[in-house]
Amino acid sequence: MAAMVHESVVRAAVEARERAYARYSKFQVGAAILAADGRIFTGCNVENASYGLTICAERAAVFAAVGAGQQRFELLAIATAGGVTPCGACRQVLAEFSLDLPILLIDVNQQGSIIEVNLRDLLPGVFRLNPES
Ligand code: THU
Repeated sequence: MAAMVHESVVRAAVEARERAYARYSKFQVGAAILAADGRIFTGCNVENASYGLTICAERAAVFAAVGAGQQRFELLAIATAGGVTPCGACRQVLAEFSLDLPILLIDVNQQGSIIEVNLRDLLPGVFRLNPES
């Protein structure tokens, strides 16, 4: 993948994090997903006074992309303080569309230090409704 595309996805995740509504946890998350058509879709976590209604940044990004007609993804970047991995629920949602998705974990506290992982490694034993298909 071209370095400039890579950089754009990283930048989009960092910028999306700034838009997080993390009133309760104070933990801001930004996600940016590169679709096969070259477009980048972003999401941030949006919390709620009824805590369980909170949506994670990763799922917000995937849902925005699917709503825009994209279902094939090439790269996901997640920006947090600490460069943490996505939660289990988001891993399962991502796996619905691409089991081998490369994921960049950006630590905004370490001059944007980036670690690359793969969804297949993060989610062994993915749930499949019909394992034969
Ligand atoms: N959060 C995400 O946005 N993505 C994850 O993968 C894990 C957690 C959000 C949800 C909540 O707003 C905050 O981080 C703390 O859990």
